[in-house]
Amino acid sequence: MALADYIDNKPVIETKRLIIRPMTVLDVPALKKWMPDRSIYTYWGKGPSKAEKDPELLFEKTERPTKSFHLGIADKKDNEVIGDLWVYLIENDRMAQIAIRLSKDKHGKGYGTEALSAMTRFCFENTELQRLWTQVDVRNVASSRMLEKCGYKKEGLIRQGKMVNTWCDYYIYGILKTDTRLSDD
Ligand SMILES: CC(C)(COP(=O)(O)OP(=O)(O)OC[C@H]1O[C@@H](n2cnc3c(N)ncnc32)[C@H](O)[C@@H]1OP(=O)(O)O)[C@@H](O)C(=O)NCCC(=O)NCCS
Repeated sequence: MALADYIDNKPVIETKRLIIRPMTVLDVPALKKWMPDRSIYTYWGKGPSKAEKDPELLFEKTERPTKSFHLGIADKKDNEVIGDLWVYLIENDRMAQIAIRLSKDKHGKGYGTEALSAMTRFCFENTELQRLWTQVDVRNVASSRMLEKCGYKKEGLIRQGKMVNTWCDYYIYGILKTDTRLSDD
């Protein structure tokens, strides 16, 4: 498989407790519960957008075909979307950026590590991607820890750089397909 194979059919990835899957308008009631919550944007680089404050808007336009992934993270128990993740800014089908967020009431239960490990493994096993990376505000301890548990390496510190729309000290975390061990779910 290759990134191009997923342009029209986005993947569904199952872990022990989660289903990582495309979202539809049926997920709006679940998204409304957490997506507008400002507390999850503290280290996100920007506050909630108009569509994140009113998730119905996310589904108004038909999505342009893209190799990027924006998938919901659903709890297997009830299929309710409790977070979302991206693999985006894909360069030459070789390198991409990742981002993940979860509803505040789901933090600290290992869901972030479970979802990101599975998505990372999926990218290396099912696409041409060789490198995944992200920027993390140095104050975002939970994110740094989650990335390290998923096998990402802290590659550097950018001092007072631009992270999305904010200026802060941030780390670059990255993982290569050739890095030996991808953490389990
Ligand atoms: C980052 C995020 C996705 C992590 O998900 P999570 O499910 O809470 O993370 P996990 O439960 O898998 O925890 C990973 C590790 O971080 C630790 N951790 C979690 N929250 C923490 C906190 N507030 N402070 C310190 N450590 C924390 C956990 O204890 C765990 O380490 P351990 O297993 O050694 O105990 C979640 O905090 C989130 O959605 N944050 C808001 C959005 C965001 O900032 N995204 C990242 C942008 S780079």
